[in-house]
Amino acid sequence: MGTSFVDEIERVIAAGEVTLPVFNPTALRVQQELVKKEPDSRILEQLITGDQSLSSQVLRMANSAFYRGLTNIMTVKAAIVRLGMREIGRIVLLSASQNQFRTTDPEINKVMKKLWQHSAGCALAANWLAKRCKFADLSTQAFFAGLLHDVGKLFVLMVIERVKKKNTTLTMTDALFLEAIDTLHTKQGFALMQQWHMPEHYCLIVRDHHEPDVDTKDYLLLIVRLADMACQKLGIALTPHPTLNLAATIEAGVFNLAEIDLAELEVTLEDTASLFT
Ligand SMILES: [Fe+2]
Ligand SMILES: [Fe+2]
Repeated sequence: MGTSFVDEIERVIAAGEVTLPVFNPTALRVQQELVKKEPDSRILEQLITGDQSLSSQVLRMANSAFYRGLTNIMTVKAAIVRLGMREIGRIVLLSASQNQFRTTDPEINKVMKKLWQHSAGCALAANWLAKRCKFADLSTQAFFAGLLHDVGKLFVLMVIERVKKKNTTLTMTDALFLEAIDTLHTKQGFALMQQWHMPEHYCLIVRDHHEPDVDTKDYLLLIVRLADMACQKLGIALTPHPTLNLAATIEAGVFNLAEIDLAELEVTLEDTASLFT
């Protein structure tokens, strides 16, 4: 039974029955601006204010407890001044991606919401880890890679929704559902990233983030893997893993992270809950 469901999902994908999601063009342009040596704050402001719903989302997030300031931020320009371009760039990516994790089917929508929390949590954790591990130059990339690493799960969820609509007699248990997502997401995510013409390194992280053998020199991949595990440990994941010992992982070993550093990461992640309300 389990395999036949996975087979059906793969068949629907191969037949091209589900339209590929597009990557938010504004978010992509913001990302391109931010990886420049000297990003231009006016371009950033124009990009954000050019999208009305994005602007209001950005302001709401900038005023959340996670980014807590003393006074309310009223304009995008003020937000850029207060929080800085890189921070605003991260908020834009979070806001824009949040819109893709919504659908009409309430059951699927619930899973998508959880998946968005996981993706955002991984992005923020990866960013934090890059800075803590003295790879500050990787921090923007770490954020982006963390946000996208499970993009295949979003795509598989969209396919499941399609299968569900077409075949109402299909019994779909939670276990079956999660198994299909787990089994297919790295391969399908990799294909999606390539269709989006994303830089190779991000594509490979999407493909390899669960591989048992890991290249201990690929710091960006290691950071995303550790961020992913930290989210699983804290229950910010589709399949939580509360007993996970982060300090004992290969990744924490490579970066020389002690229990106390990892505890600090967990506190930071717990704070992100204010972004999801
Ligand atoms: Fe994953
Ligand atoms: Fe993940």
